[in-house]
Parts: sequence; C-alpha cells; structure tokens
Amino acid sequence: MRRAGTWRGLGVLCAGQILLSAASVMAQGAAQPEGSTGRPVTIGYSQCNRGEPWREQMDADIRKAAGEHARIRLIAKDAQNEALRQASHVREFVSAKVDVIIISPKDTSLTRPVADAVRAGIPVVVLDRAVEGDEFSCFIGADNRVIGAEVGKWVVKALGGTGNVVELKGLSSSVPAIDRSEPFRAALEGTGIRVVYEADMEWLGDKAREKMQAALARNPKQGSIQLVYGANDPAAIAAYYAAKDAGREREMLFVGVDALPHEGIEAVRAGILQATFEYPNGAREAIDAALKLADGKPVPKKIVLGTRLFTRENVDAGGEAIPIPAADGR
Ligand code: FRU
Repeated sequence: MRRAGTWRGLGVLCAGQILLSAASVMAQGAAQPEGSTGRPVTIGYSQCNRGEPWREQMDADIRKAAGEHARIRLIAKDAQNEALRQASHVREFVSAKVDVIIISPKDTSLTRPVADAVRAGIPVVVLDRAVEGDEFSCFIGADNRVIGAEVGKWVVKALGGTGNVVELKGLSSSVPAIDRSEPFRAALEGTGIRVVYEADMEWLGDKAREKMQAALARNPKQGSIQLVYGANDPAAIAAYYAAKDAGREREMLFVGVDALPHEGIEAVRAGILQATFEYPNGAREAIDAALKLADGKPVPKKIVLGTRLFTRENVDAGGEAIPIPAADGR
C-alpha cells in the first residue's frame, strides 16, 4: 500500500476536513502518460466492510488500479458493516464535492443516498451489491442469478438428483443474497433434493458457523445432510469447520461462492470445499468507469463480470469459464 505523498493535493478538499480525518486519503504518485495529462479527479470510495478477505482484496485492487493514474486522489472509507455509517460517507462525499463516488453498498438501504448524490450532480459507480431502481450511474458486478443457477445445476449433478441440503444465505436485505438463492432453489425443483435447513448468515463466517451448528443439531442423524451451500466461501468454509467439530464433515459436500485464490480456491485444493464459483470484485472496472464519468464520457449502465467454476478436477487448470447469457431476462 502506498503511503508516501498521501496528503498531497488536499487543498481541493478543504470543505471535507472532518471527512478527511476519518478517511484514508491517497494521492497516487505513479506517473502514467495518459493519466498525468488529464485534470485531477477526486474519487470518494465507500466500502461497506473491510473486515473480510474478499473486501480487503477489493480495497487493495481499487488502490492498485487508482495508483496507475497520477491524477486520481482516492478517499477510501470503511463503513464497518453499518449501513447508516455508509449513508453518511455518501453525504460527506457530496458535501466535499468529490468528482465521482464509488460505493460497494451494504444493502439496498443505500438506494436513497446514492440517488441523492446523483441528483446533486455527482456520478456514482455501484459495485457488487446492487441498489434498487436506476438512480445510479453505473453498476458493476457478476451475475448472481447465473451463479445461483449454476450452483443449483452443480448440486443436482453432484448429488445425483437426491439428498438433503443446508442453505446458508447472504444478508437478506442485499440483492446478491436473493439472486444467489432463488435460481438455486428453482434448479432443485422436480428433483429429489430437499433444503432441510436454511438461515441468513449475513455474509459472515462467524454467523455461518453458528447457523451450521443449529443445522446439525436439527438434523442429528448421521447421513441426514448431504450438502451445504454457503452463499459465500467464508460461510461454506465455516460450515465445514462446524461439521468437523461435530465429527460429521465427511458426510457432506460443501459449495461456496467467491473463489479468492487465498480462500475458496485454497479450500478446494485442501478438499474443504468441493466447488466454488468465482465472484470478481470489479475494482479495476470501477476505477475505469469512475475516470470516464469524471471526464464526461459515456459508460454502460451495467457492466456484467464473468464467473468461473473451480473444483478439485479443474483447479490446476485455472477453473472453467461459465458462459454469461447475452440478456438475463430480468
Ligand atoms: C463480502 C461478500 C462476499 C460476497 C459478496 C456479496 O462482503 O460477502 O463474500 O461474494 O460480499 O455481496
């Protein structure tokens, strides 16, 4: 992480002094011909929660991509998993008159603050978890409905069409939670697979572990659970350890989503997860879109990122690409 020169160029932001004391502000020093010629661009970036590997990676990738443009000043903030704190970030960015906002929102409660920023004339790039309606400038994320459907297909095949499943869902007020679940359930329809326990683990490994302990307690007979679907890898991995504590991890398969190299993919290699579907964080695309918006150039309303399936069989070959349908019909 670059620290030198951090406070350079803050005169532009004097209106946001309070904001700056709580923020990590970076003046990116790397010279790049194209980036160094344009006017300076201040990007306010609000991360919903920095305390998870996937989001740590997103932050690192945002800083790296921003660092490639000498004209970017990045103000990065962590909402510590509190939606109200994140709403304040957006309002502070608006009063500081940043050029663009990038937000990876906790949930749909950020819809209003995002719309207000757009109405105040500040373009907003929404990353990963969607807001409601269309009052944002650009949404970037993988297609969670495709991922949910692919998980469902994989599960039906892996279980040979019959068995009992535990579903550990993401935070119910966030769009990826719904999108990773509904198509998954649809894929199980008409098969002999039953969801015997479901719970909201709020995207958090600790919560998932508790929920899995409850699932095991409710289904105490050996062989009464064949598979656990965690809507993210932290949940699927935590479920594995809960099952291991109960001496039952060999009875069931574990499937997750994210496929971070040092988390989900490593867990596939270690035989903890049988499958994980990649969920790219879109950091580079976000910086790219933010710069275009600051320059008044057009950007697509929605940028859909690809996904890959990783299993023990294909992990050494770099996984397998999942085709993204041209139009998802939503
Ligand atoms: C991190 C995370 C990821 C997940 C994404 C969904 O907070 O839970 O693990 O893929 O958010 O929005």
